[in-house]
Amino acid sequence: SRVVLVGPAGSGKGTQAPRLSDEMCWCHLSTGDLLRDEVKKGSELGREAKKIMDAGGLVSDDIVIGMIKNKISEPMCSNGVIFDGFPRTVNQAKALDNMLASDGKQIDKAIEFDIPDQVLVERITGRRIHLASGRSYHIKFAPPKVEGIDDITGEPLIHRTDDTEEALMKRMNSYHANTGPILDYYKQKGRFAKVDANRNVDDVWNDLKNAARPI
Ligand code: AP5
Ligand code: ZN
Repeated sequence: SRVVLVGPAGSGKGTQAPRLSDEMCWCHLSTGDLLRDEVKKGSELGREAKKIMDAGGLVSDDIVIGMIKNKISEPMCSNGVIFDGFPRTVNQAKALDNMLASDGKQIDKAIEFDIPDQVLVERITGRRIHLASGRSYHIKFAPPKVEGIDDITGEPLIHRTDDTEEALMKRMNSYHANTGPILDYYKQKGRFAKVDANRNVDDVWNDLKNAARPI
């Protein structure tokens, strides 16, 4: 099965996707995580992307589509894929459909993380992440066992460089302008579900699990 998680910055995509990945044995592909890997490596792509990401803009369609193309053909993704943060433009959604169709596959469901803008600031400014794995924590809502330390590896947690209020405002606007239209794209195809993402992590998880389950 192939599902897309669609929601604004801080809506919980990166929190829920690993759970879904464990439950279903589907691979988790986050374009944000893939881009942060490039930034960490210091590649040319990473250096270009970092400027755009820190400013809250969108990296070009060609770059993210290329990254996804490489990943979905990996054997570990043959059972199923959770797309997190991709597609975020109608152009990307169409490119993804074409990519999958050439393999006889399709997106089975796009799931919207529905949440009001007002709650996103607190979620984003309190977020801490483990860079290598992409695991995210929250100083108030999902604290690590030891402050500032990843539960699993014992490595330090960091503050994402794009988690400023200023960049968040841009990401929120971009979500409404560029990503909103992909919801209609999937609704028209009849492959759409919505979860109320403004609840605690476990309640969101219960709904998500049901929404993502293959029919
Ligand atoms: P990306 O990394 O995808 O960032 P984003 O879409 O802005 O989303 P976030 O990762 O900020 O939010 P999330 O929904 O994963 O929230 P999380 O679960 O961590 O992309 C970063 C950048 O890369 C983009 O801005 C762009 O520049 C570029 N990019 C990426 N993909 C691209 C594409 N396809 N095209 C072009 N450019 C692209 O949760 C947030 C916090 O809230 C955490 O602290 C968490 O612990 C907490 N939390 C989660 N759920 C709950 C809950 N239910 N209750 C309370 N707290 C919660
Ligand atoms: Zn994320």
